[in-house]
Amino acid sequence: MTPVKKDDSLSFLKALKEDGVEHIYMPGKEKNVIRSQADSKPVKDDILRLRDKVLKCRLCAELARTRQKVVFGAGNIHAKLVFVGEAPGADEDQQGLPFVGRAGQLLTKIIEAMGLSREQVFICNVLKCRPPNNRPPAPDEVVNCRPYLKRQIELIRPKVIVALGNHAAKALLQTERGISEMRGTFQEYEGIPVMCTYHPAYLLRSPGEKRKVWEDMKKVIQLLERSEE
Ligand code: URA
Repeated sequence: MTPVKKDDSLSFLKALKEDGVEHIYMPGKEKNVIRSQADSKPVKDDILRLRDKVLKCRLCAELARTRQKVVFGAGNIHAKLVFVGEAPGADEDQQGLPFVGRAGQLLTKIIEAMGLSREQVFICNVLKCRPPNNRPPAPDEVVNCRPYLKRQIELIRPKVIVALGNHAAKALLQTERGISEMRGTFQEYEGIPVMCTYHPAYLLRSPGEKRKVWEDMKKVIQLLERSEE
């Protein structure tokens, strides 16, 4: 996929078309993608308290020793849509922000094709620290970190969660079912619909699968629209 500047909407649309995206979602002005700000202060305080705790976490000795930065997550704490990835990679570890490397750039394009921006959604990972050499999260690391993800979702209270890849789907749903089996279907986490889809890093290796992810995102858009009716 041709890299595009965020503000260059024409070339962005062209790049999407080249990748097989036929329709993009154009939200009407009346659509409110973020929740009312009425309850914003308590949520913000709680999120900041949680963030302080996560930034100091040393439950996983190896990760605490090898990390550069803890990656808490970023975006809108009142978002209706939360994306959950696997764990920070090298770029995320350096910047302390989720999905800022190559896979992150593709995730940004997916979000923008949905008619949204990164500032309107919340993006986080199952693990908040980078596993050395990008190895998969160890089961005990997922157990240590899962309460942080749980609390993030409790506070944000999104209408829909998108689980990006096998590790996110398994950690959220506590299942042994693989991503290929669950992809394209809504599962449930604490009463919230979870769309399981392929991880953007997998799409970089298998670009032919992008169309399936786009089909999944259309289902997410439909559900978000229905939640506003
Ligand atoms: N892959 C992930 O799962 N998360 C990130 O933040 C970056 C890459």
